[in-house]
Amino acid sequence: MKLLLVNASPHKKGSTARALDECRAKLKELGAVTEYYHLGNAARNSCTGCGGCKGSGTCVFGDIDALADAFTGADGIIIGVPTHYAGAPGNILSALSRLLFSRKQCVEYKPIAVIGSGRRGCITGAIGDVQKFFEFASCPIISGVYPALIYGSDYESAGFDAEGLQNMRSVAENMYWILSALELAEKNGISHPISEPKIKTDIPSLL
Ligand SMILES: Cc1cc2nc3c(=O)[nH]c(=O)nc-3n(C[C@H](O)[C@H](O)[C@H](O)COP(=O)(O)O)c2cc1C
Repeated sequence: MKLLLVNASPHKKGSTARALDECRAKLKELGAVTEYYHLGNAARNSCTGCGGCKGSGTCVFGDIDALADAFTGADGIIIGVPTHYAGAPGNILSALSRLLFSRKQCVEYKPIAVIGSGRRGCITGAIGDVQKFFEFASCPIISGVYPALIYGSDYESAGFDAEGLQNMRSVAENMYWILSALELAEKNGISHPISEPKIKTDIPSLL
């Protein structure tokens, strides 16, 4: 079982990293293999709808290939996102808009948890911004015992949010539980469903 932890903060060692470290420690304790990916702070384009990925299956802007490869190699994914103005930073939104459009199969049917960090408020806005991408890809959404958020403005201060840290451990445990159950299901011949061919009904065509 391999878990990918993605840090979508521009800060390598901020409060988002603190939350992810708590998940990682719990997953290690449970025996899961983890990989860590830091999105970094390079500027990224959002999807331009150019259609260039249609034939090639990859985005014309190559800067999401490493992230897509990391998703491909994982059984489950935990994404940590900081709160920027009551939502997720543009960098991760831009990356995911292109990744879901060009290489959706790298996340399809994989359990995903999104955890958020912030200094003061509206952290669920950031979580929701990221989570909704995976609702386009049949991903089971994993939760904790409370919305998966932690309060802090840097690595150290997030370490004082004992309840938030406990919730991060519960997200990790729930993720491990679901992945273990899916492994067992697979061994017993129960796999994920095969999606029907897509029906695309543009609203204007109904008028
Ligand atoms: C541009 C910007 C906007 C922010 N907006 C919010 C906000 O709306 N709510 C909040 O709680 N914190 C907000 N913060 C604070 C960050 O969420 C907080 O510093 C958090 O630690 C960032 O995670 P990181 O340390 O992993 O980068 C904002 C920070 C920045 C840079």
